[in-house]
Amino acid sequence: LGHQIHFFEEVDSTQRIAAKLAYEGAPEGTLVIAEEQKAGRGRLDRKWFSPQGTGIWMSLILRPPIPPQQAPQLTLLVAVAVSQAIQEVTGLVPDIKWPNDILLHGKKCVGILTELQADPDRVRSVIIGIGINVNQTSAQFPEDICDIATSLAIEKGERIKRAPLIQEILLQLERLYKQYLEHGFRPIKLLWEGYAVSIGKPVTARTLGKVIRGIARGITDDGLLILEDEQNQLHYIHSADIQL
Ligand code: BTN
Repeated sequence: LGHQIHFFEEVDSTQRIAAKLAYEGAPEGTLVIAEEQKAGRGRLDRKWFSPQGTGIWMSLILRPPIPPQQAPQLTLLVAVAVSQAIQEVTGLVPDIKWPNDILLHGKKCVGILTELQADPDRVRSVIIGIGINVNQTSAQFPEDICDIATSLAIEKGERIKRAPLIQEILLQLERLYKQYLEHGFRPIKLLWEGYAVSIGKPVTARTLGKVIRGIARGITDDGLLILEDEQNQLHYIHSADIQL
């Protein structure tokens, strides 16, 4: 992975560029990285703050031989790979909040956005966007997120070099992706559960205009969140905003 790297000083969104490259037939493993994004996108139509030089803003193209309903598994795989890389490079131990927010001391430092180009029965490409707050100081976050966002440098108390971290992420991703293609999602699921903060705890899920409160019981083999409500009814959540 990452044998073909497209590097940009400034883009609207690496996600848009990677999607276009994928559509035009770019090979699996193609990576788009930018120093700054003017219109970085987050999940659920949010913006992703991506200032110049302080973070890692990148999108990776994968072409796994899987049906579209298994694509959430890849999101979880990427969350594990990035968590492992952060731990390896900084010594900080991250938590994962379902599906793919990576937290340090309860604040978000990484967001992952997975987008699909798919036929009904098979995935053509998965575009995985990874945004990592690396060297921002607290004063550099916009007011509306400064209470919930953090950077690796803030948590570590020193600046972190970005290049070795990118390299480690690609290494971990390649390792886990290979394992996934050979042995399926099970081993990844176990690793994911090891990092997960929400399992066994009460959470509120906002999904498609509905609010479901319950205890997070785990994830399915497809990567959906299992929530048990007060009537002991199980809900399988595909996409939602989760509050702990
Ligand atoms: C989230 O909402 O948590 C996901 C954020 C994903 C941000 C990354 S930064 C690189 C890539 N390009 C984008 O426009 N978004 C993703």
